[in-house]
Amino acid sequence: MTRRVLTGIQPTGTPHLGNLLGAIRPALALAESGLEAMYFIADYHALTTIHDRERLARHTREVAATWLAFGLDPERVLFYRQSDIPEIFELAWVLACHASKSWLDRAHAHKAAVAAGAEEIGLGLFLYPLLMAADILAFDTDLVPVGRDQVQHIEIARDIAQRFNHEHGPDLLKPPNALVDDGCSANVPGIDGRKMSKSYGNTLPLFAPAKQLRKLVGQIVTDSSPPEAPKDPDTSLVHQIYRAVASPDEARALADRLRAGIGWGDAKQTLFERLDAELAAPRERYAHLMTDPVALDALLAAGAAKARPMARAVLDRVRRAIGID
Ligand code: TRP
Repeated sequence: MTRRVLTGIQPTGTPHLGNLLGAIRPALALAESGLEAMYFIADYHALTTIHDRERLARHTREVAATWLAFGLDPERVLFYRQSDIPEIFELAWVLACHASKSWLDRAHAHKAAVAAGAEEIGLGLFLYPLLMAADILAFDTDLVPVGRDQVQHIEIARDIAQRFNHEHGPDLLKPPNALVDDGCSANVPGIDGRKMSKSYGNTLPLFAPAKQLRKLVGQIVTDSSPPEAPKDPDTSLVHQIYRAVASPDEARALADRLRAGIGWGDAKQTLFERLDAELAAPRERYAHLMTDPVALDALLAAGAAKARPMARAVLDRVRRAIGID
């Protein structure tokens, strides 16, 4: 049987190069590799942090348009909004009754909030891994591509599935496996050298106009060696970002030029041109998609219409097992 791969995308901010290389590209490649792919916008997860109707709606469409602009084919990938599948939330309650509080105490978002001295922890933040388990288990998911920080959430989903099966019967819920891509592209640095992340404000946004992109590339941190000085590509931030987008041959060519001694300005120009070539066509597609929010919403609704009966079947199985049918 074809294995099913599923992942959720939080609509929390303007997408950047790190998202493209760490999440979007690898997920689209998986969908091309013969797996059955389901990718969804986790808008109810974003509700843990965004309480602004205009922002939540806008980010949801931005994320949808981004994935489509980079080539997601809704005929091949089931693409939907989490909030359009109410079965997920019903399942989340059943799962809550088969999970322990201590499992969620260990989850990193909650632990980080406690460590930062938060006096009150929002219940949404605390229950976040539980909702994620429902997202996954509602579709009999085999594989979940996630970043390293999310692996513990997949383990929580496994634990819940196993406990449920132990109590109610084998094979009722399918324990999922995490799929972590540790390729270097997943860790593209930001323009200040830390991991590229919107919370650090060091990103290269995917759809910035070329002029703004040029300016941000200009701000990439370098040392102050003179133009003719030989430079080590491996310690150069410009090269680290370049090799994450360019082909191995292109990366080698820039490395050779740096070693021979070119100015940082020239290296940055090479990086900018490569990025701009990569992003120009998706930028146009994205702008076009964003002009028609009604069509975007309709596309997501069509995905949900296909996904919903699948979640319904799992929920019916679960309800029967617990005595509610
Ligand atoms: N928690 C994930 C993140 O922040 C998003 C997410 C929500 C998700 N539900 C999911 C990922 C289910 C994989 C499967 O990146």
